[in-house]
Amino acid sequence: MNTNIIVLAAGKGTRMKSKDVNHSKVSFPILGKPLVKYVLDAAKPLNASKTVVVVGFGGEATSEIVKNDASIVWQKETLGTGHAVMMAEPVLKDEEGQTLILCGDTPLLTSETLQALINKHQTSKASLTVLTSKIDNPKGYGRIIRDENNKFLAIREDKDCSDEERLINEMNAGVYVFDNQLLFKYLKNLKNNNAQGEYYLTDLISMFVNDGLNVDTYVLNDAEEVFGINDRCQLAYANKVIRKRVNKALMLSGVTLEDPDTTYIAPDVKVGQDTIIRANTQLLGNTVIGEDNVIGPNSYLENVKVGNNNQIISSYLTDCEVGNNNELGPYLKARTNTHITDNCRVGNFVELKNAILKPGVKCAHLSYLGDSEVGERTNIGCMSVTANYDGYNKSRTTIGKDVFIGSGTILVAPITVEDEGFTAAGSTITKPVLKDELAIERVQQVNIKSGSSRIKAKAKAIKEAKSK
Ligand code: UD1
Ligand code: CA
Repeated sequence: MNTNIIVLAAGKGTRMKSKDVNHSKVSFPILGKPLVKYVLDAAKPLNASKTVVVVGFGGEATSEIVKNDASIVWQKETLGTGHAVMMAEPVLKDEEGQTLILCGDTPLLTSETLQALINKHQTSKASLTVLTSKIDNPKGYGRIIRDENNKFLAIREDKDCSDEERLINEMNAGVYVFDNQLLFKYLKNLKNNNAQGEYYLTDLISMFVNDGLNVDTYVLNDAEEVFGINDRCQLAYANKVIRKRVNKALMLSGVTLEDPDTTYIAPDVKVGQDTIIRANTQLLGNTVIGEDNVIGPNSYLENVKVGNNNQIISSYLTDCEVGNNNELGPYLKARTNTHITDNCRVGNFVELKNAILKPGVKCAHLSYLGDSEVGERTNIGCMSVTANYDGYNKSRTTIGKDVFIGSGTILVAPITVEDEGFTAAGSTITKPVLKDELAIERVQQVNIKSGSSRIKAKAKAIKEAKSK
């Protein structure tokens, strides 16, 4: 059957207490990924023909996040969930089949649950099926009202419940499957004469029942999945749940996590077998890591592609690529378009930006290489720097293969050092170094006999004159 999806994401998110009014609740991230993205990703396997996200508060931010996954409709005034669904009518009114309605603030829902809900809807040939769950403290949720034969009759909002109804512990998860044509037909009949003065989507249930339409529920055992985010405590809780799920799946697939409690891996990250992730490590964005690596302790990788058999210790890498058999860190910072190929050693307190290191490069300590290319087997001595920025422009440094850059070399870009070139320690290089040349740029050293004791005596005399 044809499936469409509506995600409600226009609500205000008042309880997130952000000072930025344009910060929509559903754009808050868990492990770097916005809440609404989790919902859209969970729905992806359903292969919907149309997906619509209803945006409102902070709608620009939300639109930016979902624009590649869904059509966007605006709800200018948040007049309730029923009103929000009405906004999708122009996009969906001619569609046949079923429409799944989700909230953008429930990131723990799984694809399996959504599929099971749809299966139940189809097998019971219902016009409307509601996802429900039984929880200990249903305060704040709509309650599922049933008759003495357990027939589903209505949803009553918490604020509209009688004292007796408030004791019902079966809650509305806010996830529904509707026959699409009936949905938009009945929405026109909604009224807002209730405690909150809103158009409640949930009022459709009793309307369907009164007209003899078949309504059903799918009761979820694991209430955790329908957990909604309203404040930052709940955000932190959901973060923990997602983290545990991701970590567990990785461990079961053959990745060692030395300390799962301090390991933060985003859901879209991939890690190959027999890689060891050591404590206090974060792998975020679309990071992809191969096999037999040791990452961490204390490493942060965001949007990094890593091959096999590397060591990345206490380092910070963003938007870059690492090949195979490299020894990196401790304290490497590698960013934007850096490519460390194979068999390199890039050591402590090194920064790389937009730098390509060909196989076998060594840059073991305290250096900065920016906008640079370094050839095979070249050694970059301690405290070498590419001076790539004049305050206005970035310039390139090109270093050939088998080059020796002496300690403390300053390479003033644009500059080239050809294959087998050599720069003497402490040189500031401003002219190209050709193949096999040695470049020395130093003032001649002068040694003065007994100069040490003479200069000390002079300094001592000055001090004594002052204290008189
Ligand atoms: C809603 C349900 C309640 C259910 C609960 C589950 C209604 C009337 N009530 O209550 O039965 O137990 O969800 O979490 O539907 N939204 C809009 N536009 C609006 C109002 C809301 O897009 O005008 C969006 C929100 O961004 C949110 C979702 O709809 O994603 C739910 O809205 P919210 O105000 O949180 O509804 P609840 O009061 O929690
Ligand atoms: Ca809610």
